[in-house]
Amino acid sequence: MRPISAPCPALRFRRLRRTAALRALTQENTLSVGDLIWPVFIRDGHGMEEPIASMPGVNRMSLDKVVKAAEMAAGLGIPAICLFPYTDPSKKTEACEEAWNPDNLANRAIRAIKAAVPEIAVMTDVALDPYNSNGHDGIVRDGIILNDETVEALVKMSLAQAESGADILGPSDMMDGRIGAMRGALEAAGHKDVAIMSYSAKYASAFYGPFRDAVGASGALKGDKKTYQMNPANSDEALRLIERDLREGADMVMVKPGMPYLDICRRVKDTFGAPTYAYQVSGEYSMLRGAALNGWVDGEKVMMESLMCFKRAGCDGILTYFAPEAARLLRG
Ligand code: PBG
Repeated sequence: MRPISAPCPALRFRRLRRTAALRALTQENTLSVGDLIWPVFIRDGHGMEEPIASMPGVNRMSLDKVVKAAEMAAGLGIPAICLFPYTDPSKKTEACEEAWNPDNLANRAIRAIKAAVPEIAVMTDVALDPYNSNGHDGIVRDGIILNDETVEALVKMSLAQAESGADILGPSDMMDGRIGAMRGALEAAGHKDVAIMSYSAKYASAFYGPFRDAVGASGALKGDKKTYQMNPANSDEALRLIERDLREGADMVMVKPGMPYLDICRRVKDTFGAPTYAYQVSGEYSMLRGAALNGWVDGEKVMMESLMCFKRAGCDGILTYFAPEAARLLRG
């Protein structure tokens, strides 16, 4: 593309900004309800909606409540919901066996939602951290996060989720080789149509802080995740990871966090043209929400602006805790 400009007054950019009609005609990107994926936190029990202190407005929901929430989301036209379980510390072990228990909270939630609201796509989290007594996404031995042993566990976890009816698996662990292993196992087990959205370019970010509270992993986590999640200083490496995951059989790819990494989203979309998503993570949500609650910014406006920016950066969709609120505004 080679934009052409005439000098003023032949070209006055303000001519096309003069009225709402002209601004609508020249708008380059749009945000719609169909772009939203809603991450939700689930917990055991009945009739429970438990606030998360570091994420005002977000609750951990028991299964009955999350089914109602999925019905509400589908009613608003939100295409997908993504499940994150809060696991009781008593179920966390070093081998993370609960991760592939067919009756764990996440798998029960998949079945309950698919039974009640089959039209909404259910996305999962494939990583061991909610089930790991040391809070890491992988199996730890002698202080080392083991790659290949973790991939074996992730494959078992993926199969249990696919068996429960998940539409999209979301490996967020950043181990090497997991997409190929998962894809092979899904094909072999007859789950040919289960999609994989790979958290391909996931950075070792401090913006995940509130999420770790929400899933009860903050207390457990020993050390940091820098040996498997990416260095925030890197950009070319993101492209290599995306290419690797696409070649191994990822259907969709994700950049995470979102707003501080829009340059990565743009490069990924321009380079591969694959279905590209960004995760507006917990810390981003809490910053915007916290500032709005203090009256420092207009909450609705910064929410909608932040979501539009993902579209401008080339994303096909956004995982955001704002999904129902944004959907309501988009529907007027
Ligand atoms: C864990 C996982 C994390 C998030 C999604 N899956 C946290 C982490 O890697 O520590 C973060 C989401 C958010 O912050 O909203 N596998």
